[in-house]
Amino acid sequence: MNFEALKPKITNLISNSSALNETLQSICDVLKTSIDYYDWVGFYFRDGTTETLKLGPYAGAPTDHTTIPFGKGICGQVAVSNQNFVVPDVSAQDNYISCNINVKSEIVIPLFVDGKNIGQIDIDSNTLNPFTKADERFLEFVCQSIATLL
Ligand code: SME
Repeated sequence: MNFEALKPKITNLISNSSALNETLQSICDVLKTSIDYYDWVGFYFRDGTTETLKLGPYAGAPTDHTTIPFGKGICGQVAVSNQNFVVPDVSAQDNYISCNINVKSEIVIPLFVDGKNIGQIDIDSNTLNPFTKADERFLEFVCQSIATLL
């Protein structure tokens, strides 16, 4: 399914949301099911007290990395940089935390509420170099939509 067709589905899930984690879970499920190269889709949220990211709802294989220190791995770097991070080939990254040997690429988009980076959506792919600017724009839309609930 293409991104334009997916946007109304995301908007509907947000509009009908009654419980945040259930909505986030539904978004993970829809994204993983609809985009064939999205093999793991999950949310991490900032814990400013411990300076770590905590795993939230996700779709895909369970991961041991339920807590990630700021600065560590792709996710931890986005917690510090506040920038999108697109990794076409994870094997080329030094500061990378492997969750699953099948993963070849990753994209992480920060989630801003009132200008503050409060978490992120993280997507792993088993395909090499699948992500384009269209993924970034679409996932920014997803994060902006979720921000209206937070
Ligand atoms: N690969 C991530 C860790 C999270 S897993 O992909 C679920 C990273 O390097 O931060």
